Amino acid sequence: MNRNEILRSMGDHPWAVKVHYFDEAISTNTLLKSLAQQGAPHGTVIIADHQIAGRGRMGRSFLSPGGAGIYLSALIRPHVPPAELMHLTCSAAVAMCNAIEKTVCLRPCVKWINDLVIGKRKLGGILTELSIDPVTHLVDYAVIGIGINCRQTAADFAPEIRDMATSLMLCAGKTFGRSELAAEMIKALYSMNETLLTGKAALMEQYKNDCITIGRDIQVIRNDTIRFGKAIGINPDGSLIVTYSDGSTECVVSGEVSVRGMYDYV
Ligand code: BTN
Repeated sequence: MNRNEILRSMGDHPWAVKVHYFDEAISTNTLLKSLAQQGAPHGTVIIADHQIAGRGRMGRSFLSPGGAGIYLSALIRPHVPPAELMHLTCSAAVAMCNAIEKTVCLRPCVKWINDLVIGKRKLGGILTELSIDPVTHLVDYAVIGIGINCRQTAADFAPEIRDMATSLMLCAGKTFGRSELAAEMIKALYSMNETLLTGKAALMEQYKNDCITIGRDIQVIRNDTIRFGKAIGINPDGSLIVTYSDGSTECVVSGEVSVRGMYDYV
């Protein structure tokens, strides 16, 4: 993977001139946030072959070995109230399913809210980070970070995650160009941004189709407490509708949700 190959697959795409490639970054999200604060334009994209300290949701790390994955962050500047972007992570997940399907003819699913999965294993994840203008209270920028395992073999994953993780090569059973997939990811994010505010209902409808969490027994884990429930739907803002055995219903916006039968929840 390199910048020239990525650009070759992008043609004269409007974001092509704003793609930056690094062999190594601490975290593409961290780097892009700092560029955003210095005025980087809407549509700036950072891709790294390797991240030293890739970050995931809820303060977790995201393993980012060189030569194996795609670690990509894109900057958008929708100057709207933050409440208008509640569906951003879901929309990015749909965009990534589209890009992967187009490249390897295999559509991943999504485990609420930000995990890309194939079968019972995690293929990648999305970390979106917003910055709000303190004067206008509108969004100044959003950084959408995506990590996808592409070329790992089972032996490449650490023993403690080997049964929970997968790569596109393992699932598709064939090799493919990471540059080609990176280009499709950027194009999919561009298209997502085009309808982000005007096409919310369609994006969330597709998210619901891709999301394997709905209808499943789940655990909602917050502050060391675990509640067992069933996911029954997703609201237009991306929150997960959960019913519990006492008959109560909750709309979950944060915290960890484990799906029975996936990863290590049996
Ligand atoms: C998660 O699994 O919770 C989200 C993982 C997001 C990882 C991507 S890799 C590119 C970007 N840079 C980061 O540091 N994180 C995101």
